[in-house]
Amino acid sequence: MILAKQLVYWYLQNKRDLPWRKTKDPYRVWLSEIMLQQTRVAQGLPYFLKFTEAFPTVFDLAKANESEVLKLWQGLGYYSRARNLHFTAKFLAKEFNGVFPNTYKELLKLKGVGDYTASAIASICYADPVAVVDGNVYRVLSRYFGITTPINSTKGIKEFKELAQTLIDTSQPGVYNQAIMDFGAIRCKPQNPLCTDCPLANGCVALAKNQIKELPVKEKKIKVKKRYFNYLVVITENNKTVLEERKGKGIWQGLYQFPLVETPKEMNEKELIEKKEFTSLFPKEATISLFNNKDIIHKLSHQHLFTKFWVVKTKEVSEKMVSWGTVKKYPVPVLIDKFLEEFLNKKS
Ligand code: ADE
Repeated sequence: MILAKQLVYWYLQNKRDLPWRKTKDPYRVWLSEIMLQQTRVAQGLPYFLKFTEAFPTVFDLAKANESEVLKLWQGLGYYSRARNLHFTAKFLAKEFNGVFPNTYKELLKLKGVGDYTASAIASICYADPVAVVDGNVYRVLSRYFGITTPINSTKGIKEFKELAQTLIDTSQPGVYNQAIMDFGAIRCKPQNPLCTDCPLANGCVALAKNQIKELPVKEKKIKVKKRYFNYLVVITENNKTVLEERKGKGIWQGLYQFPLVETPKEMNEKELIEKKEFTSLFPKEATISLFNNKDIIHKLSHQHLFTKFWVVKTKEVSEKMVSWGTVKKYPVPVLIDKFLEEFLNKKS
């Protein structure tokens, strides 16, 4: 039996009895699908009941004030979902006489409606054959087909959507979509899935290869830190500059650089000249110009360096100076090397 048929067969015997399944009213389906994003069915259900009691139609929701809507949403989290919901209700009431668009493509244009919600509403209410891909679907498909592409990577998102689309039962897309989601929620669970006597066990690659626990694969997203670097490129009257060795642990240890002023956010010239690091280097007169109008963004694996090179002309400085002619001999980070290439070309 093909996968879609097996899922639908299972669903017809095991589906959850949920209020939004008793209707094809797009307003109710839309509400339920927005509420169930990042929320489990058991947690979302009482909210759905309260909401539809307070606002039985899209016009009632449109007429409400925002604090009423947020109050009923309280505890569900991700409050932008509630605000977008309210915005879209007002939009539909005013511009569309309360009638929902009836295709995936048109639904996608509504505020707060993304690929998942548009697919769910279009398939459930209008039999538009578009596949939904939520966390449950990622899990079922990655395990059944043994797919190791990370589900939160650009490649994975595309791959799973395309695969899901090839599997859909086009004669009953809404039933099929809800079948695979329920199957993921009830049987093919994240922890302790019910693999013994699973109706899909015969074709399940992960089960055969003992990979159930490893799938789906999620890429660890590392948080990239933003740093703001201001290099002081000194030019003295007798054509010298200042280079310092980077001390301590951290990036570029042992390499040379121009005196650096690091700030928690972007800095302008006025703020720069008030800095202690600046005044201690240039107690007398200095003229400043910014070499790069736009920050140079140097990307490292865990950090992005937003960099400005400030050219500071002055008589002399107290620091140990090096002649401009020898600058290229020092080991420097690529960021500075690239600057030097450009700067020395212009300078000479
Ligand atoms: N999770 C979110 N929406 C769902 C639906 N319509 N059926 C099953 N699970 C869901």
